[in-house]
Amino acid sequence: MITWSPEKIAAFQKTLLNWYDQNKRDLPWRKDHDPYHVWVSEIMLQQTQVQTVIPYYQRFMKLFPTVQALADADETQLMKAWEGLGYYSRARNLQKAARQIITDYHGEWPKTKAGLQELSGIGPYTAGAIASIAFNQPVAAVDGNAFRVFARLLKIDADIAKPQTRRLFENVIGRVISKDRPGDFNQAIMDLGASYMTATNYHSADSPMKAFNQAYLDGLKINIRSRQKINDRYQWPTTVF
Ligand code: ADE
Repeated sequence: MITWSPEKIAAFQKTLLNWYDQNKRDLPWRKDHDPYHVWVSEIMLQQTQVQTVIPYYQRFMKLFPTVQALADADETQLMKAWEGLGYYSRARNLQKAARQIITDYHGEWPKTKAGLQELSGIGPYTAGAIASIAFNQPVAAVDGNAFRVFARLLKIDADIAKPQTRRLFENVIGRVISKDRPGDFNQAIMDLGASYMTATNYHSADSPMKAFNQAYLDGLKINIRSRQKINDRYQWPTTVF
């Protein structure tokens, strides 16, 4: 693993955010920074592809436009809105958390990553995404994209099945994340992971971030295969150099 100087970090942030400003995907949950919009989209995107999620997200927002509407939703109608997305526990947890926000928090969202993780169905990734995108907190949102992208950028050879590896990536990202635009920074990493730095297609030579991609510069091809279902739980396999 390599470390970057403060100058290199500043240059990385500038290049990444400029690229994002010009090339970001136009997605319905990116129209504002409403925590409800960020939250529902992130939960839908956990096990489902962006293109599949878009119509579901739009229908869901028409049916349940606010946290209150979701808290009050009829269970049959909620399950119907989720039909086709699968993993119904995600929808049940959404409603549970909506009720927590209304009842326990009197409608006020917790605004920190730790506070958000108190809500039903919100783990470290989703909490990081909401805290950074909706509340401008400079915290990491470590999902498979972030593992893969930063493993390549900083040449990190870590076993991603180990719990301490998440902390390593959270720390590393915490050091390089833009303090001014943390939500855009995390979403730029997502877009980079969906375009130039996908799991199977490795387009580093064309990437706007290639000057920062140490694995590429050193001629190393780092492939992290996509999530595999192991013993009914999703785990990340070890990095492969
Ligand atoms: N995948 C997970 N979260 C995402 C987001 N906010 N935008 C695009 N892709 C995502």
